[in-house]
Amino acid sequence: MGVPNYPEPGVSRAATFSGWGMCVPQQVRSNAELEQMVSTSDEWIVSRTGIRERRIASDDESTFTLARDAAKQALQVADVHPNDIDLVVVATLTPEYGFPATASLVQDTLGATRAGAFDINAACAGFVYGVAVARSMIESGTHDTILLIGADTMSRVVDWTDRSTCVLFGDGAGAVVMQATDGPGGIFSTVLGSDGAGAPLLIQPAGGSHQPATVDTIESGAHYLQMNGREVYKFAVTATAEAARQTMQGTGLGPDDVDLFIPHQANLRIIKSAARGAGIPMERVFVNADRYGNTSAGSIPIALCEALEAGRIQAGDRVVMVGFGAGLAWAAAGIEWTAATVKLKAVTAAAASAG
Ligand code: UT7
Repeated sequence: MGVPNYPEPGVSRAATFSGWGMCVPQQVRSNAELEQMVSTSDEWIVSRTGIRERRIASDDESTFTLARDAAKQALQVADVHPNDIDLVVVATLTPEYGFPATASLVQDTLGATRAGAFDINAACAGFVYGVAVARSMIESGTHDTILLIGADTMSRVVDWTDRSTCVLFGDGAGAVVMQATDGPGGIFSTVLGSDGAGAPLLIQPAGGSHQPATVDTIESGAHYLQMNGREVYKFAVTATAEAARQTMQGTGLGPDDVDLFIPHQANLRIIKSAARGAGIPMERVFVNADRYGNTSAGSIPIALCEALEAGRIQAGDRVVMVGFGAGLAWAAAGIEWTAATVKLKAVTAAAASAG
């Protein structure tokens, strides 16, 4: 696993987050509603996962609409015009179509006419993979302003008759604008990892080139997400803790130097075990899985937005985020929050209360 750390030789600028936004569907599906759909209970779901409710897309919502609305907010916070965007990246495992890329649709609707666009599929780790990619492009000097979105509509790939998976997931998107800064601050470390031997543990078997959609695949439910929960759980705890440790160690930091830990919001038990493994107390861990469940690539940017809006991140704070999921894949990023971005938050808050 590579741990490229900032500053690297020859790197004269860092990448930072200058804007953020999120969009979740209005429709809430509570554990009580799930009790009417499958053989489960609020008590089981809360005690095993910490999830109390999740958001579910309506018929006129989709990965594209959630991504678009999160992106518009992020551009507003960053005060960036669509013409200034060099690249649009959407991390998703539930794209609007098999192709073209959802990022191309977002690029078009925003009128980001100068921007390139592509999607990343690293499942629930996709957003943090995107952070690593965008960081490299910004640090290398080829791109100045990148719109990165994590968006998923998990309700469209979940089998709503399978109690072992349907209670876990929700829909949502989060977006960030990433820009160059000459410091101080910015992204100081990224970690990427994969263990493809675990691919069968979390998979949508049909609908791809291996098993194209047919009447048989639909009738057998092979187009739905399938998961070995116990095995993914074990992987998630170990990978999250290890990736968090590597993000810090690579830069000579320890758990006490982390002001806020933002893990993938899959399951409160995983979050608690991983935080313990990484040596970070729960007071410095952000959790919103209780309200949204696992929104896959949307999970970390949504949590980042809510942490910022709740005042949990201040100038100079070090934030570590870790994603994990199908692949099996994992990714971590460490960022030192800059004064400029905190000032932006104050400006947005003032504008919102004035208007
Ligand atoms: O982004 C990554 C996505 N995936 C994850 O993060 C998932 C990781 N895994 C997990 O979070 C946990 O493994 C689960 C929450 C999925 C399951 O928790 P668990 O403690 O590992 O439960 P289990 O799979 O060992 O199942 C225990 C029992 C089983 O019954 P038996 O065989 O012991 O009689 C299940 O059939 O709980 C049963 N069960 C349920 N009962 C009520 C499974 N799902 C449900 C349910 N309601 N929704």
